[in-house]
Parts: sequence; structure tokens; C-alpha cells
Amino acid sequence: MRKYTTLILVLFTFTGISCCIVSCVARKSEPIKQKTFTPANDRIANGERVYMMHCQKCHPGGEGGLGPAINSNPAPQFVKRFQSRHGLGVMPGFKKNEISKRDLHDVSKYIRAWKSY
Ligand code: HEC
Repeated sequence: MRKYTTLILVLFTFTGISCCIVSCVARKSEPIKQKTFTPANDRIANGERVYMMHCQKCHPGGEGGLGPAINSNPAPQFVKRFQSRHGLGVMPGFKKNEISKRDLHDVSKYIRAWKSY
């Protein structure tokens, strides 16, 4: 019986820790972070503006909304830009007349800066 209790305790602890590692990384909202994001340069500021216009409604704060969380997505930025251009499933693709090449790179810079602030 004692053996099982220990085993169950170990399992619960492991599950708790791994849930925290997996789920906490995506959360960036202000009440938890207690600090505000300040873009380090104009490109990141522009990326934030474009993100707010086109992406925020489905990926609020880089967290899950209609779409999945982006903050915890380890894929390289070019993959994210590809997905933004071409879309996937419910996510629409954004053509060059909607988001220019430079703007899309700015969104990348913003996502990276936001993820690690
Ligand atoms: C209409 C809602 C919507 C908008 C607007 C939108 N997305 Fe998405 N996004 C989604 C959905 C839904 C998925 C999941 C697609 C799938 O896997 O089928 C997704 C997936 C993604 C993924 C992959 C995440 C993962 O873990 O699979 C990235 C990166 C992403 N979106 C970035 C963006 C960026 C950048 C923008 C703005 C340029 C954007 N999205 C705009 C709905 C949206």
C-alpha cells in the first residue's frame, strides 16, 4: 500500500511540474507579469501595430484564443511567417497587399521580443 502511495505522489508531482513548464510559458498577460512591454525599436513597434491589426483577435497576447498560443511555439520565425502568408486550416493567409514583406518581418521581431520580455 505504501509503495502505491509513494508512486501516486511521484506521479502527481511530475504531472504538476510538467503542466507548469508546458502551460505557464504561454502566459504573458499583465496581471501575472506586473510589467508593461516597451518596444526596443521602431521595427518592433511597427510589428506590434501590425500584430494588433491582424493577429491579436485570434492570438490575444500571443496566447490561445480562436487560434493556438504562439508564445510557446518553438518553430523558427520563417515558419511562422510562412504560415502567416499562406494560412492553415481556419487561419487565413495574409497576402503582400495586406501585410508587406517588411511588415511581416516586423511582426516576427515583435513576436520574438514579446516572447522573451
Ligand atoms: C481568424 C483567426 C486568425 C488570425 C487572424 C490569425 N491566426 Fe494564426 N492561427 C489561427 C488558427 C485557427 C491556427 C491553427 C491552425 C491549424 O493548425 O489548423 C493558427 C495558427 C498559427 C500559428 C501556428 C501555431 C501552432 O502552434 O500551430 C502561428 C505561428 C500563427 N497562427 C501566427 C499568426 C500570425 C503572426 C497572425 C497575424 C499575421 C495570425 N496568426 C493571424 C487563427 C488565426
